[in-house]
Amino acid sequence: MSDPLLRYRDEFPILATSTYLVSNSLGAMPRTVPERLAEYAQQWATLGVRAWAQGWWEMPVSVGDEIAPLIGAGAGEVAMVPNVSVGQAQVLSALDYGGGRDTIVMTALDFPSVRYVYDELAARLGARIVVVPSDDGVGVSEERLIEAIDERTRLVAISHVTWTTGRVLPVGQIAALCREKGVPLLVDGAQSVGAIPVNVPVLGCDFYTVSGQKWLLGPDATGALYVRPDLVEKLAVHFPSGYGLASHDAGAPIAFAPGADRFDPGAVPLPALRGLLAALSFAAESGEERFDRARSMAARCRELLAERHEVLTEPDQATLVSFKPHGDPEQAVARLTERGVVVRGFPGLDWIRASVGFWTSEDELDRLLAALPG
Ligand SMILES: Cc1ncc(COP(=O)(O)O)c(C=O)c1O
Repeated sequence: MSDPLLRYRDEFPILATSTYLVSNSLGAMPRTVPERLAEYAQQWATLGVRAWAQGWWEMPVSVGDEIAPLIGAGAGEVAMVPNVSVGQAQVLSALDYGGGRDTIVMTALDFPSVRYVYDELAARLGARIVVVPSDDGVGVSEERLIEAIDERTRLVAISHVTWTTGRVLPVGQIAALCREKGVPLLVDGAQSVGAIPVNVPVLGCDFYTVSGQKWLLGPDATGALYVRPDLVEKLAVHFPSGYGLASHDAGAPIAFAPGADRFDPGAVPLPALRGLLAALSFAAESGEERFDRARSMAARCRELLAERHEVLTEPDQATLVSFKPHGDPEQAVARLTERGVVVRGFPGLDWIRASVGFWTSEDELDRLLAALPG
């Protein structure tokens, strides 16, 4: 327990009973979350709809403003959405696929539910999806991705960190090329924000989606969408909600809010946003050192796993490590779970992932190794 960041372990109740290596799906709950959820219940119970006037109605904006600094964005530039896939759908539906610019370039390593939004929604909207393949399931060739961007490209949509192996894509380089070609770039940051440093304006992204429930340690249903401020008013909103309106005058034409919150699709889970606020305090308190520690522990995890297993994650990537367990992966996950080590596989795939955070201890890595079959 020599590293000062390990003091945060006490903040996560589950770490007392489990080796929890699964932030790629759902982060460990901070112990301060229940009181924030109880506050919500208390206000609802006592104030009912009057609670809307006690900051409830503004919460999607105020929580977006708390996420903004974590990605280098400013106030009013981040809308809260229920999940990443909805955030992506908001962007896709706001674009126009006419005038000879009808393709969306993405990669075979984007997340399945995100791919679905493209294949189904974007295709219905008239977009042609160009998927850059992965030869090895680990990475995509950046050269091929860049070659796929041409005069027909309406949007490039990629993951910052691939969900499969934690590979970090050279987003800054891709953004520069997109800018040169006049193509907007949408980046899925579900596996990056909270795991590695992210500065969206410096990278040059036009749109960026965030998951609150993974590396930011918030509850389910806490996604966010960054929209470059000068694009906001140029884009049509096709899934509006009461939360994204500038005015609620029933007699007037619909008027959208001036900031990114016009993309708020409504039904934002207010209890979950409160839980997320509790979780965001770690990012503020623990400083940038947390990224260095998570990275060095991930490198250690990779090294230990590689002694006995095939590791798919390349060195120096983000903080999830994919590897092939000996034998059936589902049985390996069940065996780990029985031994108190929480990781997840993915149906149909023969590898599993271990997520390593700034709170991960050496003991936990040893427990993972000891619990694996073979
Ligand atoms: C890279 C990536 N994108 C998107 C998602 C899906 O996010 P959501 O369920 O919030 O739409 C995941 C989920 O694990 C993911 O890893």
